[in-house]
Amino acid sequence: MSLLEVNKILASIIVAILVVTIISLLGDLIVNINADKSKEIAYKIEIEENQSESSGSSSQDIEIEPISLLLSSASLEKGQKIYKKCGTCHNYEKDSANKVGPHLWDLINRPKANVEGFAYSKALAEFGGVWSYEELAGFLYKPKEYIEGTKMNFAGLKKVQDRADLVLFLREQSDNPVPLP
Ligand code: HEC
Repeated sequence: MSLLEVNKILASIIVAILVVTIISLLGDLIVNINADKSKEIAYKIEIEENQSESSGSSSQDIEIEPISLLLSSASLEKGQKIYKKCGTCHNYEKDSANKVGPHLWDLINRPKANVEGFAYSKALAEFGGVWSYEELAGFLYKPKEYIEGTKMNFAGLKKVQDRADLVLFLREQSDNPVPLP
């Protein structure tokens, strides 16, 4: 093998190494560009999500119609029918047992997560306050949104009239019903 041939071989090896190095550098560059792009996209989506979330919750605040004005003309009978949706998981009679959910006797203005012997979710246990008429109606609109992390698996009652009828019925389940607002 002549010196020239050895040189050629060495040169082609060097060129090969250079090409590989350049390709991998380019590759990194492309991947980085892509990574940047995907970061950008993820960021954008995040902003959009936040926007829709915040607009969702703020419009939701407006959407949850208060029941107070409807209570005086609400229907106990319809409320009892609507209660069937709750009855699989809740009793409402005095001294009744807990089922999947706690009993709902004397519920209006009862402190939240207050039934002895019931293992509440952390979310509900720490929520605080009492079940006022409006808080109860707000919770029943979309339980999982009203108390994020609640283990009450119920989609919610979309119609304000249904919530008013049901809350009126629940109000009756007490020795001493709380005066209507
Ligand atoms: C699939 C079962 C299920 C259904 C259906 C259901 N609940 Fe519940 N409910 C639960 C569970 C479980 C909890 C406890 C939630 C927690 O600890 O986060 C709960 C909690 C509650 C609480 C809070 C009680 C307290 O002591 O603080 C109220 C009020 C309530 N439910 C009312 C209702 C009403 C009214 C309906 C019908 C519209 C209903 N639930 C339907 C399972 C259910």
